[in-house]
Amino acid sequence: MGLSCGNPTAIASLKPGEVVLDLGAGGGFDCFIAGSKVGATGRVIGVDMTPEMIMKARRNVSTYTAQTGFSNVEFRLGEIENLPVADASVDVVISNCVLNLSPDKARVWREIARVLRTGGRVAVSDLALLRPLPEALRTDLEALVGCVAGAISVSEMRSLAEAAGLGSIELRPKPEYVDALTDWNDPLYQRIMQALPAGTRPSTFVVSLDVTARKN
Ligand SMILES: C[S@@+](CC[C@H](N)C(=O)[O-])C[C@H]1O[C@@H](n2cnc3c(N)ncnc32)[C@H](O)[C@@H]1O
Repeated sequence: MGLSCGNPTAIASLKPGEVVLDLGAGGGFDCFIAGSKVGATGRVIGVDMTPEMIMKARRNVSTYTAQTGFSNVEFRLGEIENLPVADASVDVVISNCVLNLSPDKARVWREIARVLRTGGRVAVSDLALLRPLPEALRTDLEALVGCVAGAISVSEMRSLAEAAGLGSIELRPKPEYVDALTDWNDPLYQRIMQALPAGTRPSTFVVSLDVTARKN
């Protein structure tokens, strides 16, 4: 149902009536949370490029509607580099652990800026690098945190949002998220800890990052 690295709906300060777009919605977990926050007068669109995930998310809609009484969440098949969403039609773009997977992140940020209304905002959680992964540990660290192969640095993330014309950009690294993944009894984790440079831990290299921004 969910493979996340943060809680974008918690940092988005969603209000009733808003239109929310979730990039890489997966099974729809964040869309359903967003839907209950924006209520009957709001709308949530989840976009995902994987037909199986869209089918899964659509199957979850009936349970959501039965539980909340809202029919305000829809899922669209598409790529976040080419969003099936009209210009200036969205109040809030959210995304949870997806941007790092895109081969063209600059284009994703331009698409975010295109679909946002003036005054619209971004609330994204993703994985980002604080420093390059040690080559000898790259595969193991990637296996530990998942979804990190395409992660970029925190400063690159800022540059991409800026280049797309967004303002009020705030980046909050959250090392505790990666630390919480660690299981001392996991042989993979033990192997990583033995091989890490002295005084470092996985979150020295990769962190969960909350990104907020605004279209002015
Ligand atoms: C790690 S999962 C996260 C799913 C969901 N956001 C969550 O928190 O559970 C990544 C999702 O992004 C989708 N995805 C990856 N790259 C994408 C792209 N370029 N365009 C659209 N969807 C993409 C995948 O199909 C997958 O469902």
